[in-house]
Amino acid sequence: MGFSYQNHILHTESVNITDLIEIYGSPLYVYSRTDIENNWYEFDQAFGTHPHLVCYAVKANSNLAVLNILSKIGSGFDIVSIGELERVLFAGADASRCVFSGVAKTKAEIKRALEVGIFCFNVESMAEMNRIEQVAKDMDMQAPISLRVNPNVDAKTHPYISTGLKESKFGVDIDDAIPIYQMAHNSPYLTVKGLDCHIGSQLIEVSPFLDALDKVLELVAKLDKISIRITHLDLGGGVGIKYDNEQTIDINAYIVSIINKVSDLKVILEPGRAIIGNAGIFITKVEFLKQNSYKSFAVIDGAMNDLLSPALYQTYHQVLPVNENTKGVDANWDLVGPICETGDFLAINRKLLLSEGDYLALMSTGAYGFSMSSNYNSRPRVAEVMVSGNQHTLVRERETIQDLFNKEYMVDD
Ligand code: LLP
Repeated sequence: MGFSYQNHILHTESVNITDLIEIYGSPLYVYSRTDIENNWYEFDQAFGTHPHLVCYAVKANSNLAVLNILSKIGSGFDIVSIGELERVLFAGADASRCVFSGVAKTKAEIKRALEVGIFCFNVESMAEMNRIEQVAKDMDMQAPISLRVNPNVDAKTHPYISTGLKESKFGVDIDDAIPIYQMAHNSPYLTVKGLDCHIGSQLIEVSPFLDALDKVLELVAKLDKISIRITHLDLGGGVGIKYDNEQTIDINAYIVSIINKVSDLKVILEPGRAIIGNAGIFITKVEFLKQNSYKSFAVIDGAMNDLLSPALYQTYHQVLPVNENTKGVDANWDLVGPICETGDFLAINRKLLLSEGDYLALMSTGAYGFSMSSNYNSRPRVAEVMVSGNQHTLVRERETIQDLFNKEYMVDD
């Protein structure tokens, strides 16, 4: 684990967090390179010699250092926009290890992805298939495609991050897939490669994944009967992480169950949260303590613009004091930010000893933390630091006030 107490001070690997705060300020995201690498290796090694590609889902955390570290150890990438494509290329990734997901790829995005030679488009509708065919035709190329099907299984996760039900905007109904594959198979500008599904995020049970896999394999067999050969299965991301003490998925057992079902088909997985979620923490300072007869509020310098998930998905993040020896007021605190919204909280009802000026770490915030941050309330986005052993590197500068409006213009008169 990249985060532990040494002499009662929280450390990331061998680096003291209070030193990081002194150098880089607060609030701050801190990542452990060793944890990122180990999390990726856990997926990769579980496949053994079975043909596979672990494509990190860039949306979880798209910092260039994260992408570069993963690219160096051989990761592929799951991208959803031209911005993510250019980021991974800049970070040293090989386009032929990238899959392009997302419901609404523009012509410019498709063109660029074809130019650089991505491994496969995960296509989400007939309309999008037609658009990809048109762009490939204009370029006189063949676009590699995989159809994202919706297997109609309940991922048993938060509704906002559940994507595999019939009502979902993602993919096509699995029962409507064959005519779309036939169209692709008959096109001189499309090459059928794979079959794709992604049923949701933060799944803590393996059974929905395996139910989806069974349905997808039935479709592979039907396609085979009409001579449409699928050469890889992309089973998406979604493996949940421990936020508290909950049970979650045993990654090795999950991958072994996949291998046992797919014979020699190549398997692609697109984990995001499971790679970076527990490899990152968010540091924040207690500015004020504010108690009345009903509530105890700790007003902190971090807010929902820095870390949106508690407000949006009621995510639970463990809160640890940076200095374990703190002596403060013992209460059940709500950690609330400076933003003018009642929903601006990062943790609710936590028994902690707090004093003004204390620093706290919100754990398991590496995924969908910085990447979903914004400038709401004209707050500059925070700095990010990568730790490796006893080394620390600033991997994103704290934004300045000037950064907030340097792309804005006033009217002339
Ligand atoms: N592949 C596709 C096609 C996806 O849509 C996603 C996530 C992933 C892979 C990666 O899923 P993961 O392994 O990270 O669960 N903002 C939300 C999560 C949104 C997930 C969107 N899609 C959150 O903070 O919980």
